[in-house]
Amino acid sequence: YLNYCVPCTRKEIFETLVKGLQRLEYRGYDSAGKALDINNNKIVLIKKKGKVKALDEELYKIDCMDLEVELDTHFGMAHTRWATHGEPSALNSHPQRSDKNNEFVVIHNGIITNYKELKKYLNSKGYEFESETDTEVIPKLIKYVYDNREREDLSFSTLVERVIQQLVRSPLLIGVRSKYELSAEHIPIQYNTAPDNICKIRNSHNRPDISTAVNSTEDGKAVEYYFASDASAIIEHTNKVIYLEDDDIAAVVGGKLSLHRLNRLAGEDPVRAIQTLQMELQEIMKGNFEAFMQKEIFEQPESVFNTMRGRICFDTNKVILGGLKDHLKEIKRCRRLIMIGCGTSFHAAVATRQVLEELTELPVMVELASDFLDRNTPVFRDDVCFYISQSGETADTLMALRYCKDRGALTVGVTNTVGSSISRDTDCGVHINAGPEIGVASTKAYTSQFVALIMFGLIMSEDRISLQARRLEIINGLRILPELIKKVLTLDKNIKSIADELYEQRSLLVMGRGFNYATCLEGALKIKEIPYMHSEGILAGELKHGPLALIDKHMPVIMIIMRDACYTKCQNALQQVTARSGRPIILCCQDDPEVSKNAYKTIELPQTVDCLQGILSVIPLQLLSFHLAVLRGYDVDCPRNLAKSVTVE
Ligand code: F6R
Repeated sequence: YLNYCVPCTRKEIFETLVKGLQRLEYRGYDSAGKALDINNNKIVLIKKKGKVKALDEELYKIDCMDLEVELDTHFGMAHTRWATHGEPSALNSHPQRSDKNNEFVVIHNGIITNYKELKKYLNSKGYEFESETDTEVIPKLIKYVYDNREREDLSFSTLVERVIQQLVRSPLLIGVRSKYELSAEHIPIQYNTAPDNICKIRNSHNRPDISTAVNSTEDGKAVEYYFASDASAIIEHTNKVIYLEDDDIAAVVGGKLSLHRLNRLAGEDPVRAIQTLQMELQEIMKGNFEAFMQKEIFEQPESVFNTMRGRICFDTNKVILGGLKDHLKEIKRCRRLIMIGCGTSFHAAVATRQVLEELTELPVMVELASDFLDRNTPVFRDDVCFYISQSGETADTLMALRYCKDRGALTVGVTNTVGSSISRDTDCGVHINAGPEIGVASTKAYTSQFVALIMFGLIMSEDRISLQARRLEIINGLRILPELIKKVLTLDKNIKSIADELYEQRSLLVMGRGFNYATCLEGALKIKEIPYMHSEGILAGELKHGPLALIDKHMPVIMIIMRDACYTKCQNALQQVTARSGRPIILCCQDDPEVSKNAYKTIELPQTVDCLQGILSVIPLQLLSFHLAVLRGYDVDCPRNLAKSVTVE
């Protein structure tokens, strides 16, 4: 964050940074740090293990910092870390620095793969490292290049650029601050020399950077700049943003923002449009809920409605996805569909595979991005590959996207983040419009991805006479879906009482098949990641091939038995479980005495079209995961070891 000629106190700057970090905390929270100027050309670093709150408290312990002093021009940068290299600790948190005088300080997202070689080289040149991070090579290398510039008049941007070129496979998002006055002569755009150099770079495999200018003076001059890796950090200050492209460098020197390209050719400065964010502040606030996850579970009637809004005309039964319409002909001619994602997004593909096969009459492969890449899966020009991702920034999914692009396949993004790498790098796509998802456990994005993929199936089957009755049934189901979700949410108390019984258990199995197999996988994932309970999603058809050995009267089991084509088969599984003294909690349709009589407990759900039932059946499991975590005393929105966007492999 930088401001120019807007008098404000150091405390205000600090609070701006803390608030921004808190809004980003869901992305990583094992440690946090800040760099602030304390007086002319002096930068102080404040770093702390743990959450942003701990960092906030630390500021007030620093003697050299006069918080009330009012300064015209100010600078601060802050980072919240999710450890990849080096354990969570104050020393390993960012900013990392070039030396004890904090001459260059750096914050960074991503991984430097050649950091060991660079570290060895810098060690041999006498540079001592204090952390275990890969990031620390950046400020050290900047200092090395600066110290060895001979008599060359090096600009700040050129200096940073030279260093970046030494970093191998470096998904990068860095902020660098220098205490030096560096000349601008080598930069093709109008840089002023000033002590307040800051520079930011984006490189591939990373989330969008946002640089933005606000609080313009009357003559239109920007006086405040925010750089952030996520709009939620800055939304209360401005809704005007610039998304950087790969290899863009944005720099503010002497109060002016300029953009250029890494490895730029003369005269090739990029033009980037200023975009207006649609996000509202209250969308990223918890309101009266205990946790973002809980809020997002309860938002599902609206988020699912928003996914359909303006896209399904319930009077004419017409479905339009604007982002796909120019490519529909090509999609319809393809040889197969490949759905690629990770975690919950992968489960959305599993959940809709069967109905997509039915509506598109094409083979549909569902793929975990990492496994898809490990196998070097054959991909052809006449394949259509879907990339399902809430964040649009997941490294594995992005790499799978690049892999398929290289092989000439048509690429389709299904994301929740406008401007994300996946939405920009795919040929076409669908934005799921679920609104910002802050809880680390994905909930509303799953149900919206589910609905978006079904809408795609409906478009593909529009002109198939034989499928019209089925289409109509699904469209009618979608019409009342938000209302049915509301009904499921009224079961919350019931589910809390089940959580009261289960929360001290070590394990929980979730079983089902057909349209509800994905619900089992997704429910088990939620139960692992938030309450840290061992949980497995088991395909009921596989029960007798192994998992049945786990069943006895002590093993908690949830079974999903809905009135669909698998109903009889699921009842067989139920018999197998009860015959081994299992005491299943059953998710079933309302008024199903046949199932209820064999259940230890039931959670009765409204019935909908078979292929939409998974949207309703997952919600009790989301709620169960939430309540189990609260009862076990865990922080629902900050599960240990996890971060919201996994931008590293
Ligand atoms: C689970 C969860 C993760 C993500 C996965 C992919 O609750 O959130 O499994 O689904 O990391 O993330 P996106 O969808 O952003 O690509």
